[in-house]
Amino acid sequence: MGAITESNIDIDFAGAATTPPVDLDLRPDHLEFGRVTAPLWFRARYRNAAWERGRVEPWSTINLHPAAIVLHYAQCIFEGLKAYKLPDGSVALFRPEMNARRMNHSAARMAMPDVPEQLFLDGIRTLVDCQRKWIPDPPGSLYIRPTLIGTEPCIGVRASSEYLFFVIVLPSGSYFPQTLSGSTGTVRVFVSESVGRAARGGTGDTKAGANYSVTLQVIAAAKKKGCAQVMFLDSHGERTVEEMGGMNVFFLRGGTLVTPPLTGTLLAGITRDSLLKLAPTLGVKVREERIAWDELLAHVKSGRVNEAFACGTAAVITGIESFVLENGTEAKVGDGQCGPVTHKLFDALRNIQYGVSKDPFGWVVPV
Ligand SMILES: Cc1ncc(COP(=O)(O)O)c(C=O)c1O
Repeated sequence: MGAITESNIDIDFAGAATTPPVDLDLRPDHLEFGRVTAPLWFRARYRNAAWERGRVEPWSTINLHPAAIVLHYAQCIFEGLKAYKLPDGSVALFRPEMNARRMNHSAARMAMPDVPEQLFLDGIRTLVDCQRKWIPDPPGSLYIRPTLIGTEPCIGVRASSEYLFFVIVLPSGSYFPQTLSGSTGTVRVFVSESVGRAARGGTGDTKAGANYSVTLQVIAAAKKKGCAQVMFLDSHGERTVEEMGGMNVFFLRGGTLVTPPLTGTLLAGITRDSLLKLAPTLGVKVREERIAWDELLAHVKSGRVNEAFACGTAAVITGIESFVLENGTEAKVGDGQCGPVTHKLFDALRNIQYGVSKDPFGWVVPV
């Protein structure tokens, strides 16, 4: 295909493979999360205080000056959403406008320019549309990673005046190798009592790349203990539960779902928000409240908390089998299996995302 122009986006992928190679196995349970990148990307540059036209084209490596601000001061934010194949063969996104808004919330905090919502949404829609053949069948999906980086070369500590916004897409199955896609499964979770993730007044409620680099050491240590995720407490010594390294967290306590409130130090997950709205329609009571870890642990041990799960775009809903503490003890949640409420929410959310059941919320957006 030659260069075409659609709205404010140029499309030019002459010669690029928009069909996956025959030897690439796109079955969801054969895909390691985050490993396979489809051939096209969407990119747009910000220069001279304005956004230039965006392009869909074969992705290329990025040439950066060694003094580029992103390399030194981590001026980098990103988003994560998915495209799903619906039963009639069409393709849909899930609440993409929420990602556009959250991206700009992150951008403001990191002194970056807004990515115009139209550019964000049109870019993603066009990119996904050009690579429909890369979307795995259910229970798989196409993971979409919009990213914004400060590219200006300057070693002075200040915001960049030039930016690159790009979107890549990756066919994906389950986030956790321990669980099959299309089922909830359970994982062991390490509780980080001494290493924090986000400080008050910091950037915990943004998707800044730097929020993730500070978790890598403890994630690596947790993996050595056989835990797939880390749950962080607040960093100001109150020992309240915040969230996981890349997911929000819910607990079923005495029949009511509870999750920490958005205090500014944790991410406003779109899955979290969706579950807060969806649960009551399924007869599940839900509450945002401050959760003291020591009390919660006592409730896990007594069985009053009998289900717990992590949730996010990548992980969907993943049950928590047990919590592993820094002192090496382990507290099993319920019988360690995924409980009925977790299952119910998982099925209801997935059925909306995959167009299997009606979407009374208007969350599903056709591509
Ligand atoms: C730190 C963190 N918390 C929570 C989430 C869940 O957010 P969402 O449901 O929007 O994917 C994510 C994933 O984006 C995350 O990185």
